Amino acid sequence: MSKVIQAVRGMNDLLPDVIEHWQRVEDVSRDVLHAYGYREIRFPVLEKTELFARSIGQDTDIVEKEMYTFEDRNGDSLTLRPEGTAGCVRAGIENGLLHNQMQRFWYAGAMFRHERPQKGRYRQFHQIGVEAFGMPGPDIDAELILLTARLWNALAVEGLSLQINSLGTPESRARYRQELVRYLESRRADLDEDSQRRLNRNPLRILDSKNPAMREVINEAPSMMDHLDDASRKHFEQLCKYLDRADLRYDINPRLVRGLDYYTRTVFEWVTDRLGSQATVCAGGRYDGLVEMLGGKPTPAAGFALGMERLVELLAQQGSSVNDTKPQIYLAIVGESAVIQQGMRLAESLRDQGLRVVCNCGGGNLKTQLKRADRSGARYALLLGEEESKRQSITIKDLRQGEDQVLVPQSAVVKHLKQRLV
Ligand code: HAM
Repeated sequence: MSKVIQAVRGMNDLLPDVIEHWQRVEDVSRDVLHAYGYREIRFPVLEKTELFARSIGQDTDIVEKEMYTFEDRNGDSLTLRPEGTAGCVRAGIENGLLHNQMQRFWYAGAMFRHERPQKGRYRQFHQIGVEAFGMPGPDIDAELILLTARLWNALAVEGLSLQINSLGTPESRARYRQELVRYLESRRADLDEDSQRRLNRNPLRILDSKNPAMREVINEAPSMMDHLDDASRKHFEQLCKYLDRADLRYDINPRLVRGLDYYTRTVFEWVTDRLGSQATVCAGGRYDGLVEMLGGKPTPAAGFALGMERLVELLAQQGSSVNDTKPQIYLAIVGESAVIQQGMRLAESLRDQGLRVVCNCGGGNLKTQLKRADRSGARYALLLGEEESKRQSITIKDLRQGEDQVLVPQSAVVKHLKQRLV
């Protein structure tokens, strides 16, 4: 026998039992997104490498060391998308959807990052992402956050809290960066190896360090909030007012910096203490400069993405219920081809009535077929043997709750089942 080929490390199969949680999240998210007027957009999994390098930033971990990049047969450098915003913006510009327009888009799909796999962190993972274009004010920032809060409510997910911050404009951030570097240089001896490396390339990310030994240095660092330009400060204050008025609780976290370079002003994260170190379930913010950076006309924009694996894990831990997609009925057929034909016709007519029906295939005696019926999760088995077939009748057997077995005419089976299944 040949050796079994295994999946790529950090890339998971999603098996039917866990998929039911995924489908529930997808269904509920779609309804919530449509309730706010967001429309779905799909764009390729593969893009030119330059798209991500230019948008996410050369000095970020993602572009420096996490992208799946390769040359295709023409020698073009391509990359599996590590996130959705860049592709969404590219698609918007290329299809003329952004200039002088207001757009609300959402997307869902697989993203790829070559990170060290651990619980909640994978090399192929899935996001539901949302991007809003053409709206410069804090009203849309607030709407995006309220949308996420409504989604948690609709899913009845517990244990998430909201952190917000403002990164200001590129100019105010550059001023803050200078000040931060000056401070960090004065504390160079206290910096860990990672932070020493980041000091000149991406010093803001040092604020995001998870190393407890760095806590004191970070706590004493100058605060970004104190370096905001006036317009960004007003934008942030107004956002806080909108959230207050909506009775949404949040913490202002001046150390919240995000791992992608395109953000301006508002950034936010929904975090939990129930998933270990991979605590961020949903994250986003404003990125007013990105459309122009990718060759479009200046267009304000904001959005977020949630991590499906982390959200599903949270829901599974909570023991929340899932959409019931199991069959309601298992049709056992014991007989020759004429009986099988009659059974198949009956199964089709039950499906016409909206019932979920598994029809026994592959033969087997009654005992075997009833075992299969039990494993299928169906509530009822229908038994069709030579005798029932001749009399155009069928036996209804309850597999779960001990109701009496009944023999009914095939013409009345839908009525009987519907009464019982409500
Ligand atoms: P991000 O923070 O890189 O932002 O990712 C968003 C979410 O995706 C994270 O909060 C996390 O839940 C999930 N995630 C990220 N990496 C992994 C991984 N390796 N394994 C499992 N889950 C992961 C973005 O991607 C931005 N594009 C969000 C955005 C949209 N900002 C504006 N618009």
